[in-house]
Amino acid sequence: MTLRPNIAQMAGYVPGYQPDDAASYIKLNTNENPYPPSPRVIEAILSEVGEGLRRYPDAASRAAREEAGRLYGFDPSWIIMANGSDEVLNNLIRAFAGEGEEIAYVHPSYSYYGTLAEIQGAKVRTFGLSENFEPQGIPENYQAKLFFLTNPNAPLGFCYSQRYIADLAERLSGVLVVDEAYADFADEDSLDLVRSLENVVVTRTFSKSYSLAGMRLGLAIARPETIAALNKIRDHYNLDRLAQAAAAAALKDQEYFRACVAKIRETRTWFTAELVKLGYQVIPSSGNYVFATPPDRDGTRVYQALYERRILVRHFTDPALSHGLRITIGTPEEMARTVEALAEIGA
Ligand SMILES: Cc1ncc(COP(=O)(O)O)c(C=O)c1O
Repeated sequence: MTLRPNIAQMAGYVPGYQPDDAASYIKLNTNENPYPPSPRVIEAILSEVGEGLRRYPDAASRAAREEAGRLYGFDPSWIIMANGSDEVLNNLIRAFAGEGEEIAYVHPSYSYYGTLAEIQGAKVRTFGLSENFEPQGIPENYQAKLFFLTNPNAPLGFCYSQRYIADLAERLSGVLVVDEAYADFADEDSLDLVRSLENVVVTRTFSKSYSLAGMRLGLAIARPETIAALNKIRDHYNLDRLAQAAAAAALKDQEYFRACVAKIRETRTWFTAELVKLGYQVIPSSGNYVFATPPDRDGTRVYQALYERRILVRHFTDPALSHGLRITIGTPEEMARTVEALAEIGA
């Protein structure tokens, strides 16, 4: 038995900790939504449970794509549904970057792009950030096959301007993937750039703003030629019947969605101000999380102290991030308890 060398050597991605007894924690470590999915989503899923499950689902996820098309203003031929946005990120690499070819992303951002590239045998190049969050050293006529730009940035929470993103797309000969996992919590998105620039692809997830991390749902919006290529690569029945029903119902219930997002944004503002009062440095966030640095810049200490109080947040050992913590925005009550705990823990 001989593994491909890149698979033998790679470490594999380590997702955020999911404890068995999650209900006994205040769980603010994987950017899940503290509110339940829309009641319409639950109804739609339940209505699929039954005899009909013996049949394969619609291979084209038509109902969900049509709903997404209506919401975002695109023909469904510009949309592909995915089993979590991770699936479509993977298929983008498989479609555009061959073995030995280069893909790129900003460091820090979502390190899973690197793992996916390793699996493919593609080369990875990362670009660091300046003090004011400008990616550094991207060549003028950059030839990478794919550039992943996480916007809002995760885990830091800041946003790039649409002007910056358009300029970057124009400097790239390859594809610019704007990973908008958190864009529903921001003021802007790049959907207009998908319309105006050939090489821009936007990816979205239902895991955060639609409270559906457990369903594994995402989508991508791109030119029909790109969508057609991605359709050749994906598993033909990538979305099961329950997921398709959930996706369509979630996108349809915009009233519920908007109320949830508004609550999270409001709590984010409150929590940020409280952290600042405690002496933390907080990057203004456009996501459903904040990146916060304690006064002594000892992220490990505060992580441990919160953990002892059964509050789970995300600490990264990466030296670019180890001074701080990424804290998901939960309910107002959860965030008030977190503020109390942080005050007790002290600087
Ligand atoms: C920036 C970013 N992109 C993509 C994903 C993957 O989302 P999904 O749950 O849809 O696979 C995540 C999940 O945390 C993320 O943070």
